[in-house]
Amino acid sequence: MENEKIVVGNLKTKMNIEEISQYLKVINKEVISEQVIICPTSIYIPYFLKQRYKVGLQNTFINEDGPYTGEITPNQATSMGIHYTIIGHSERRINLNEDDELINKKMISAVKSNMNIILCIGETIEEKQMLKTDMVLRRQLVNALNGLSIDMLHNVIIAYEPVWAIGTNNVASIKEIERTANYIKMIVHQNRGYKNMRVIYGGSVNEQNIKELNQIKNISGFLVGGASTDTDKFLSIINEVVVNQ
Ligand code: PGA
Repeated sequence: MENEKIVVGNLKTKMNIEEISQYLKVINKEVISEQVIICPTSIYIPYFLKQRYKVGLQNTFINEDGPYTGEITPNQATSMGIHYTIIGHSERRINLNEDDELINKKMISAVKSNMNIILCIGETIEEKQMLKTDMVLRRQLVNALNGLSIDMLHNVIIAYEPVWAIGTNNVASIKEIERTANYIKMIVHQNRGYKNMRVIYGGSVNEQNIKELNQIKNISGFLVGGASTDTDKFLSIINEVVVNQ
């Protein structure tokens, strides 16, 4: 599984229950790969379980267990058969002020419960224009991975998601993605002594650009937002990355 590419669908807060039912009619029939991880809004998760793809949460709490109104703990997730969680998505960093320290706590709590983590990192347009991309990525990585052993890092996948590319139709270039994926791998190696960090790309991935993006050799798949909520688009992406690999 570790060398196989993955496609993560981040459904965010899209779709009401009727739309979810229509979506599931297609997805449950057509998606038959454990390399696909679908992360619905958490109230809908029970509808997605026990299919031939995997299911993930979009966030988990900083403690494995305890009384935390409104949160979902990693232990609750694994008890439901949910073994993936997204941590540090920029929409949470921005809208909920999630900082590096909080994200690190969520990482530790999730790995302790044996969850697989998709850790999102990425620079804003202002940071990019000020040539601060590497600095920002290094800071986000080093802080998020602080205290994680090499054993724990096996369960982590880094999603490079430039904030300026999310939901904008402004996909990063092949060169940018390749260079950044190498940089991320280098930082993790230097900082944590772990050589084989998997990196995926997210930000305006769609059915039109996936063929080209899928040529990039040093990434292990994609995190797809908007296009994952459209069954035709999502199936084209899955076909390209997982079925025809
Ligand atoms: P997008 O979102 O594919 O709609 O750009 C990606 C994400 O936010 O994970």
